Amino acid sequence: MSKLHVAIIMDGNGRWAQSRRRPRLAGHQAGADAVRRTVEAAPGLGIGVLTLYAFSSDNWKRPSEEVAGLMRLLGLYLQRETARCVKNGVRVSIIGRRDRLPSDLLPLIESAERETRNGTRLHLRVAVDYSARDSILRAASVVKEVSRESFAHALGRACHCEEAAPDVDLLIRTGGEQRLSDFLLWECAYAELHFTPTMWPDFSAADLEAALADFRRRQRRFGGLPALAAG
Ligand code: IPE
Ligand code: IPE
Ligand code: MG
Repeated sequence: MSKLHVAIIMDGNGRWAQSRRRPRLAGHQAGADAVRRTVEAAPGLGIGVLTLYAFSSDNWKRPSEEVAGLMRLLGLYLQRETARCVKNGVRVSIIGRRDRLPSDLLPLIESAERETRNGTRLHLRVAVDYSARDSILRAASVVKEVSRESFAHALGRACHCEEAAPDVDLLIRTGGEQRLSDFLLWECAYAELHFTPTMWPDFSAADLEAALADFRRRQRRFGGLPALAAG
């Protein structure tokens, strides 16, 4: 069975914190623990690529203290988790724009990517200052040949990735909203969608397993006919 590309819109940190009368940043902190749990569970569930939406280009609209707190948390995560990623064969890539990130984050991103580059068990892609529409525009402005294959390569490069943008098999959104919020619009052309009311800080390995079980019950047709009916 080929390995899956699962993408997750990690939503609900703020509401998780508010319901506990805690600051929103406490929700983001608890969300970082959920990231660690998810990354550890993913390879054992047949996931080869995991793309996590951590900060959208529209999230710059939030109060500057929340934005600064999120950037600080991302830096801490990279510092704390890189060694564990190397040990567990997890290759880390950050996708999205880099030119607006705090300058002290850039060396942490570069060293995490460099140190984990030989990981083959899981490719963890974290989307930061990411907008699917802006990525598509950047790719469209440089693509040489207008074909799906070369466009997917240009899209990969537009997000600082060496390889072509991989199609998503399963997209999960936590936090109860049922929308894409400008995430992986090209890559999700035939993604199966799974929405759960669970707030991201509560998301567990069992929730990931349940989402995959739901996915495996779906019949993917890609516009054709089911395997039996096709004969
Ligand atoms: C997701 O949680 C994390 C980010 C967008 C950075 P939110 O912060 O959007 O949480 P809610 O949706 O307000 O509960
Ligand atoms: C999407 O969540 C972005 C991330 C999870 C990083 P938002 O909370 O920003 O999305 P909207 O505003 O509800 O669409
Ligand atoms: Mg939200």
